[in-house]
Amino acid sequence: MSNIGFRVARNGDNNSDTTVVSDTNRDLQTENSGNILIAYFSWSGNTENAARIIREKTGADIIELNPVEPYSENYNEVLDEAQEDMNNDARPELANHVENMEQYDTILLGYPNWWATIPMPVASFLEEYDFSGKTIIPFCSHGGGEFGQSITDISKLAPNSKIGEGLSIHYSGGSSLESDISDWLSSNGIQEQ
Ligand SMILES: Cc1cc2nc3c(=O)[nH]c(=O)nc-3n(C[C@H](O)[C@H](O)[C@H](O)COP(=O)(O)O)c2cc1C
Repeated sequence: MSNIGFRVARNGDNNSDTTVVSDTNRDLQTENSGNILIAYFSWSGNTENAARIIREKTGADIIELNPVEPYSENYNEVLDEAQEDMNNDARPELANHVENMEQYDTILLGYPNWWATIPMPVASFLEEYDFSGKTIIPFCSHGGGEFGQSITDISKLAPNSKIGEGLSIHYSGGSSLESDISDWLSSNGIQEQ
């Protein structure tokens, strides 16, 4: 891959340990969102912020996909690490896991566009579980490359899943993020609580 024209604005904590699927909002969940899991990876916080808004709107369970060995917090270094992972088709070990994947039939899958595809920890997640018969709905934060080839790559890694309509978010998504998320949920038939 040659020159990529984007830059990163850090606005989040990529090492926070808000990682475990939580049941705290269970009683707030509508019937429709009871079987939805939000799973996301985020390095500089943009995807994480979108995931937080999606959680507020749906009450769905949430898991942050954290690699056991975190990426560098330095932008130039993470570019290299991510490219190396991609070239090696790496599957970084994840620090946290979903114990009861069978209870979910919709996965809202969030990630930044890294080198025009998914970050490899997302590939680790997709290979860890059987998504047959489930619907995966991507949301992708990017610096101009939108989804890149990430949707194709997700369908290859979860071959018997259905892929819903994705949401592409330019960096942090700006002031329309909340309404864009609402429109996106609605177009995928997901009700807000
Ligand atoms: C390692 C790395 C690779 C990236 N590759 C791309 C890319 O190929 N295309 C693109 O549009 N943005 C690319 N970006 C920009 C990110 O997609 C963008 O900054 C996104 O908002 C980051 O989301 P996050 O804050 O959840 O980590 C890259 C960023 C990093 C750190």
